[in-house]
This record gives sequence, structure tokens and C-alpha cells, in this order.
Amino acid sequence: MFSPGLDGVTAFRTTIAEPDRQGGKLRYRGVDVTELAGRVNYRAVWSLLVTGDFRYSWPESRPLKLQARTGNIRVDAQANVALLGAELGLAPVIDTEERDVLDSLARVTGYLHSFIAQAARGDAPAVPQKEISAGESAAARFMIEWQGDPDPLHVEAVENYWITAAEHGANASTFTSRVITSTGADVSAAISGAIGALSGPLHGGAPSRALDMVDAVMRTGDAEGHVRDVLDRGGRLMGFGHPVYRAEDPRARILRDTAERLRVPKFEAALAVEKAALAELQNRKPDRVLATNVDFWAAVVLDYAEIPPELLTPLFACARAAGWSAHVLEQTRDGKIFRPSAKYEGDTDVTAQAVPGWQAVQQ
Ligand code: ACO
Repeated sequence: MFSPGLDGVTAFRTTIAEPDRQGGKLRYRGVDVTELAGRVNYRAVWSLLVTGDFRYSWPESRPLKLQARTGNIRVDAQANVALLGAELGLAPVIDTEERDVLDSLARVTGYLHSFIAQAARGDAPAVPQKEISAGESAAARFMIEWQGDPDPLHVEAVENYWITAAEHGANASTFTSRVITSTGADVSAAISGAIGALSGPLHGGAPSRALDMVDAVMRTGDAEGHVRDVLDRGGRLMGFGHPVYRAEDPRARILRDTAERLRVPKFEAALAVEKAALAELQNRKPDRVLATNVDFWAAVVLDYAEIPPELLTPLFACARAAGWSAHVLEQTRDGKIFRPSAKYEGDTDVTAQAVPGWQAVQQ
């Protein structure tokens, strides 16, 4: 059997999370994510996902400065997380007690947040560690390390986004983290590899395009006309439809509520775009469920928190570090190395002389 992209292939068993396609629900360890957002913080969600218990006590870590600094925030995050293997002296998971793997995952998550904040801060003087440590949540510490004195409502917006984006079952970056872990490698190798997999534009999609529609409607006030115009030109409405859910994306619901609670100035325009888009999609594709997806309301919430476009993917990595950590730990228990097979479709029995360039390389 061969399935391009492994579509439909079950590659591992998990008790962490898997989206419920028909019902439009996302559950972390069985708990509906709508119960969590706004009621617990990101670290509690990390703890739930990784350990199945809210009460994991986070280990102390000494602050680390960025060693590799290129100006590209995602690249710096990936490179500096890879360096943690040497910096912290992390042993391969195959040689490590489970409790130590868990603590390493917590440290690596904390350092990932700090590296991204430092990279985003650029050349501005570093914020004193005492001020960062005073932050009451992971998102608060991240925002303080990045901005110095963040707006508490922006912190709340980021924390809610992190909770909704913390885990989404089997996907390219999570699978990458499991494949690397299955070789017995250390956790920094697994998490930096996952960041690399997340960086491609096909993973998740950038919310920035959804925001363009909201901005256009803020200018013209004509949501129906704008939506019709995009569709008449053969375009897609960004932030609608989903490759997995055949109902509303539950994360869209949470972030819509967040936007309303935070009194986001673009809320009314976004609501008008959503209403017009859903009506027009239903009109044009009556047989298909094309509902709002996470990118639409994430765009609105992250725009409110003044997250610049270059920080969108790194921010997604900050959130998803929870899911990756949970899968790395689960994979260490599984112990089986991933070794899929490939269908060879190339030539056989080719002589070396028949290959172009043979004459040039003979010694
Ligand atoms: N706007 C307009 N038409 C759409 C949209 C949309 N957002 N989504 C689907 N359709 C149409 C398609 O053109 C297609 O029409 P056709 O049958 O005449 O060709 C029909 O609905 C079915 O589309 P599919 O591509 O089969 O839908 P699928 O479920 O495979 O695709 C996808 C899902 C790629 C997300 C799609 O809905 C889309 O392009 N959405 C806009 C981009 C977007 O929001 N991406 C973020 C996704 S969320 C995430 O990945 C975390």
C-alpha cells in the first residue's frame, strides 16, 4: 500500500489528542479545549498535555542568552534550541530516565520562549532577568522579555492563542518530533527538528491573509460585496474551510470569544466578514461544510496583540512546544524506531559508464 503524504495512514497510537472531525471538537487528554482557555494558563495546559495532570512543577532554569543570532527569528529559535543539546549536556532519550526527559522538555520549552523573545527584541538592551521572572505566566514572561512592559490585555491574547494552538494531534511537525525521538536522540534534536518542519508555509497557513479581508471591510464597510468579489474572481476566503474539521473549528470559537472579551477594535468588522463569508460559501457550496477556521480569529487576536508578521510562525512554535513535548515523551515509551518503506521506481542494472559524467570523474 502506498498513500502519498501518508494520508490516512495511522502511524502511531496516542492518548494526547486527536481532533474530532465531525463534531468540531478538540480535546487535550479528553478535556474539551473550550474548558481551558481563559481559565488556566499555558503552563497548566503544557502540564496536562505532557503528564495528564495539571500539577507538574516546572524546574528552575538558569537564563541563557542567544548564541546564534542571524536576524531571522525562526532560524534563531531553531538553531539555539539545537545548541541546547550541548549547552545543557542532554543525553539521548534512550539513555535517560523518563522523569529527566520530562524535565528536559520543560526546560527546552522555557528556553524556546526565551530565545524567541530575545530574537524578537533584536538589538534593544536585554530586559533585566528579575523583571522577566516576575511575569505571572509563560506568556507574560515571554512578552516582558520581548517588550519590557507589555499591555496585560496583549498578554492575555497571546496566552489564549498559545492554549488553542498547543496541540492538534498528528501533523507534520509533531510527526517529525516523534520520528527524531524514535531514533533515541535527545529532546533538543527533536524540538529543533519540529521547528524546522513548522517553518514551511503549508503547515497551518499564515493568518495574515485573513486579516487583509477584515482591513478591507474596515475601509469600505461592505462585507458582502468584498466576499462576493473575492469569490467571483475565483479566490478563496482565507480563514474558512479546513482540511480536517467538517464542522466549525473549535479554536475559531475560542478565539472569537477572546476577541469579544478583549474588546478588539476590529471585532465588529471581523464578525461582518465572517457572517458574509459563511452565508456566501453556504450559497455557493451547499453540499460542503465550509466553516470558520482557527486562522481567521487568530489573525484578529494576534493583530490586536500587535504581533508582527515575522513573529507569527515563531509564536505558533511557542504554543506547539507543548504538543511536541507530549509526543516526544509518549514516543520514548513506545521505543519503536520509525522505518517506513519506499517503493523503488528507478532504473535497475545501469552500468557506471552509462551515467553522464563518468569519464570526468574516473581516477
Ligand atoms: N473559499 C472559497 N472556496 C473554498 C474555500 C474557501 N475558503 N474552501 C474550500 N472552498 C471550495 C473549493 O474551491 C472547492 O470547490 P470546488 O469543489 O469547486 O473545487 C470546495 O470548496 C472544496 O474544497 P477543498 O479544497 O476540497 O476543501 P478542503 O477541505 O480540501 O480544503 C482548505 C481545505 C485547503 C483549508 C480550504 O478550505 C482553503 O483553501 N481555505 C482557505 C485557506 C485557509 O483558511 N487555510 C488555513 C486552513 S486552517 C489550518 O490549516 C490550521
